[in-house]
Amino acid sequence: SGPLVAPLGSSVVLPCSVDELLSVEGLEVEWRKTGSETLVHLYQDGESRAEAQQQDYHNRAHFFTEEIQHKNFSLRLDDLRAEDEGLYKCTVYSQQESGETVVQIKVDNVERLLVSGSSRSISASVGEDVTLNCSVDSHIPPEDFEEVSWKKIDEDIQVLLYQNNEAHSSNERYIDRVELFTAEIPKGNFSLRLKSIRTEDKGVYMCEVFAGGLSANATVVLEQLGFSASHIMVLILCISASGSALLLCCLIYCRSPTKGMCITGKYSYQP
Ligand SMILES: *[C@@H]1O[C@H](CO)[C@@H](O)[C@H](O)[C@H]1NC(C)=O
Ligand SMILES: *[C@@H]1O[C@H](CO)[C@@H](O)[C@H](O)[C@H]1NC(C)=O
Repeated sequence: SGPLVAPLGSSVVLPCSVDELLSVEGLEVEWRKTGSETLVHLYQDGESRAEAQQQDYHNRAHFFTEEIQHKNFSLRLDDLRAEDEGLYKCTVYSQQESGETVVQIKVDNVERLLVSGSSRSISASVGEDVTLNCSVDSHIPPEDFEEVSWKKIDEDIQVLLYQNNEAHSSNERYIDRVELFTAEIPKGNFSLRLKSIRTEDKGVYMCEVFAGGLSANATVVLEQLGFSASHIMVLILCISASGSALLLCCLIYCRSPTKGMCITGKYSYQP
């Protein structure tokens, strides 16, 4: 069918299968790039012959040996390069028969840098931790990004800066309260963890990515919805404590002999 279109650096499976395979004896599968006739992969005498394959494809061409029994001779090509574009021919030799198929690869090397945040605003309560989303889709791998910056744009504060594969925060308000998910960075996930939310954290945050001379950004709105359950508990305790204190004061005041304001039952009776 049509060409396989895949982005630079990705993996692509070149399909090749047969309807019938009487015996695997003497089976040979050859994958070649047409034109140059470069040998991409060779399966012969029951094994992959790495020594016969062109150096360029070493460790990049993966043949699914376990799929042979399913009459499937597909080949996966990893870490796609611009020069991989072209036609690939799969030839299957089995006993007296042979057959072939051709697959075309097109490398989609369109430059792109797409950053997405969160379309809905994030709600959080004081004292809670929150994650502000930022995912990047690019033809450039995340380790080659020049810079990723998290800013609070309604106040123009630099919250965190990621450069040379390290994240830093220099702002007093955010230092020690912000971090990226290190394990997620290779996936282009630059989401920000903001810990122990304060009232002043409410606002608009921007994740801006600079890569390969391009830049793109996305924003996330942090809406702060009052207080968390634990804060409310503390508040109730405070109110009830001050209430009790007031009551206690009143009692002490009332019982004091010098102030008779509250003392009742003092009346005169004139017969
Ligand atoms: C052949 O095997 C590959 C790898 O497991 C798989 O992706 C592909 O779908 C298989 N093709 C067929 C026709 O089963
Ligand atoms: C990014 O990583 C965080 C933390 O693991 C996770 O909550 C979030 O869903 C991830 N975002 C995407 C788009 O995968």
